[in-house]
Amino acid sequence: MKYDFTTIPDRSHTDSVKWDVKPGELPMWIADMDFKTAPEIIAAMKDKVNLGAFGYEWPKDDYFNAVADWYEQEHGHRPKTDWMIFTTGVVPAISSIVRRIAHIGDNVLVQEPFYNVFYNSIENNGRHVLSNDLQFDGSSYQIDWKDLEKKLALPLTTLMIFCNPHNPIGKVWTRDEVQRVADLCHKHHVTLLSDEIHGDLVREGDSYTPAFSVAGAARQSIISLVSPSKTFNVAALHAATAIVPNKNLRDMVNRGINSDEVSEPNLLAIPATIAAYGKGHEWLAQLKEQLRKNFVFVDDFIKKNIPDVKVIHGRATYLIWLDVAKITDDSTALANYIRKETGLIVSAGSVYRGNGHDFLRLNLACPMKMVQDGMHRLEKGIASFNK
Ligand SMILES: Cc1ncc(COP(=O)(O)O)c(C=O)c1O
Repeated sequence: MKYDFTTIPDRSHTDSVKWDVKPGELPMWIADMDFKTAPEIIAAMKDKVNLGAFGYEWPKDDYFNAVADWYEQEHGHRPKTDWMIFTTGVVPAISSIVRRIAHIGDNVLVQEPFYNVFYNSIENNGRHVLSNDLQFDGSSYQIDWKDLEKKLALPLTTLMIFCNPHNPIGKVWTRDEVQRVADLCHKHHVTLLSDEIHGDLVREGDSYTPAFSVAGAARQSIISLVSPSKTFNVAALHAATAIVPNKNLRDMVNRGINSDEVSEPNLLAIPATIAAYGKGHEWLAQLKEQLRKNFVFVDDFIKKNIPDVKVIHGRATYLIWLDVAKITDDSTALANYIRKETGLIVSAGSVYRGNGHDFLRLNLACPMKMVQDGMHRLEKGIASFNK
């Protein structure tokens, strides 16, 4: 491989959230990667730092064209640059949009189990979480369409947050599913906020469907949120883009993002995003190759050595969703036990609500040797928990 996916950057004694651990602990929970980002991005950042003058900035055509080029080349759909708004992160944008689009006390529709931070964006702003629970049949999740339409039709439902692809289950929604969700939202005058931060990380099969690419009138009710953050391991860059085809809706989102002061780039946001989207294609292809190897290893390892655990197969993200229902329905207790006994830190599925209490989520975006270490600890922890 041209790029290095075997070295773990030493982030201990840095300000890393993930690596703020006790000696011997192995963090495989929060969604950032134990790979260095693409050297092309690091070079662009160094050039900027070498400039030495860091006054106020504003993204221009080269930034928005880089976003459009990336979506055209990677996903086959080119958003118009005048649909785009820069923002300092996906979660800041979600919180701002919740405040701007949904009134206090309104329902914000989600699909549990769901990325936990969304609950903060909704509940901390005095809005109500309403879930169209994903239906689990023992091996995969499906949307309950009847329930979705019933909940979208409620007069108090004004916003739906759609995780596309879905964290934590790793599911890539088909084009038909994305279109159907968008059509139903439009029919019931509900704005569809599609979080596409994991969209570049489809490991197998067809690309995901950006919500801004849906056909027909439904496009008027859509906000897509995209970012290089997960794709290139640059979460601390705090750079994201809202893509909003409808001008009125875009003006409202823009007003919120400005009033909430989450609209201004830091010194590295523009050059690093342009480098990522302009020069990151090959790095991403190699990353996905490494991720596929990691997923195959984990799948085999669990089948052979931890048969009580079931891998739920998703095509996207570097997060793996493990069904531990045969062992416990209290995944928080299990995750705490595994950490205490083996030092392995995983996410308890309960934080994602829904049926998450039966699951663990593990982050496989790390070199194979770390994946192997994690699997041996998981095996040991589960064996002694079972006793
Ligand atoms: C679905 C999803 N949205 C948003 C975020 C965080 O986005 P940001 O760091 O841009 O606020 C994450 C991080 O794990 C995520 O999984």
